[in-house]
Amino acid sequence: MSTEPTKITSPTKTALPPKITSPLKREIYLLSRVGLRDSHTLPVYKAHGGYAALEQVLTGGFTPAQVIQIVKDSGLRGRGGAGFSTGLKWSFMPDPAKDPRPRYLAVNADESEPGTCKDRVLMEQDPHGLVEGILLACFAMRVKTAYVYVRGEYRLSHERVAAAVAEARAAGLVGAKILGTDFACDIWMHKGAGAYICGEETGLMESLEGKRGHPRPKPPFPAGAGLWRQPTTVNNVETLANVPFVITRGADWFKSLGTPKSPGNVLIGISGHVERPGVYELPLGISARTVLEECAGGVWKGRKLKAWIPGGSSTGLLPAAKIDVAMDHDSIREAGSMLGTGAMIMLDETACTVRAMQVIARFYEHESCGQCSQCREGTEWLHQIFARIERGQGRMEDIELLSSLANGMAPAKTICALADAAAIPTHAIVKNFRAELEEHVRLGRCPLDVERHAAELTDLVPEGAHA
Ligand SMILES: Cc1cc2nc3c(=O)[nH]c(=O)nc-3n(C[C@H](O)[C@H](O)[C@H](O)COP(=O)(O)O)c2cc1C
Repeated sequence: MSTEPTKITSPTKTALPPKITSPLKREIYLLSRVGLRDSHTLPVYKAHGGYAALEQVLTGGFTPAQVIQIVKDSGLRGRGGAGFSTGLKWSFMPDPAKDPRPRYLAVNADESEPGTCKDRVLMEQDPHGLVEGILLACFAMRVKTAYVYVRGEYRLSHERVAAAVAEARAAGLVGAKILGTDFACDIWMHKGAGAYICGEETGLMESLEGKRGHPRPKPPFPAGAGLWRQPTTVNNVETLANVPFVITRGADWFKSLGTPKSPGNVLIGISGHVERPGVYELPLGISARTVLEECAGGVWKGRKLKAWIPGGSSTGLLPAAKIDVAMDHDSIREAGSMLGTGAMIMLDETACTVRAMQVIARFYEHESCGQCSQCREGTEWLHQIFARIERGQGRMEDIELLSSLANGMAPAKTICALADAAAIPTHAIVKNFRAELEEHVRLGRCPLDVERHAAELTDLVPEGAHA
């Protein structure tokens, strides 16, 4: 049976979005509407191909199983960090004929991984793309209720997605009898309160239920016992924003972008010591050097790159020598780190990697929910040890202590992966920047001219702003 959407007999009357290429002459779709005037509104979204996929599916005779198959065939992998197959995840939802319990979609818009700011662009600039992705996911999994869990600090994102849901509801695209069919789906908004742990899928569900966001042990997995112990799927914003394009353009088109094992485009947020920080849409598998040099304008002030984080603070710090690695799941793993959320953080030659790691460790100590002793105690000790090495009060044996602590925390020794998120960069700095750790201990201070560096950091504070 063909799963090509082009074979659907009832073609939509809405024009498909034009194929737009980035300044680098690469095809973009996720950000194709970003920058249009009023891109967040329904008329603009519809004028540029919006809701064509939903119309195709609902009026073109698609079955939920067919939609899941197309998404599976496309090879789309989750953009929330773990990179799990989206179609496969959807297929874990039980057959409603055998399990008639209510079922839910929880949309992960918590975006709290340091360095990550790509879901925000989608929610602020193209919220209907997310709404359409949610509706398609709900149709595929026979879900009637979706919750969008938005990071508390993202006020505009919340406002824009809520407004898009209201507009879609008024236009008969959300609620009962969508586009005059029997498909019914409601979308509700929820504001988080600024806790990183609430981005972890089971912490998110606890929080949505009105409780403290403490992750739950797995199994049971969300598809069996999620929100209110009912079948639930949790998906990231960018993952869902891909779905309308996968439906209208087909699995083969999607696979023509990216690499065979990591297909499609990805939003890469690049920050730190670069000339043009920002969020760029690029095919998976693009070289990190291209992102740095062609998109972000290279390392700022003509300096040299020293180190970089490929996918948010929980992915290991790599040396500059690895900058030619391809930005896809397998290549980055081979290079000793992870693609994570595609949030590249670049450090120039004046940066102290020990200081950077101390800041990262402080974040994980602060955000540990405290349920598991390995994480609660481990993150605190990691921070203390990195801090004392950075202050020049470390001991040589502290370096082994860091590795031994990280080994006690991960992998898979705790309820959720927050402990892994602190342990992974710890292992990476010990492996890749051991000499710098040792030098701090030997000299009893940071070997770099930290005062010069601190002075230059004021360059980052906009004129007139108060530090
Ligand atoms: C501590 C922690 C924090 C997380 N924070 C986020 C987050 O802010 N946003 C997100 O989409 N996924 C986050 N994740 C991953 C989610 O648990 C989950 O894998 C993801 O939402 C699944 O969506 P996807 O399959 O579409 O990627 C986090 C995971 C952990 C362990």
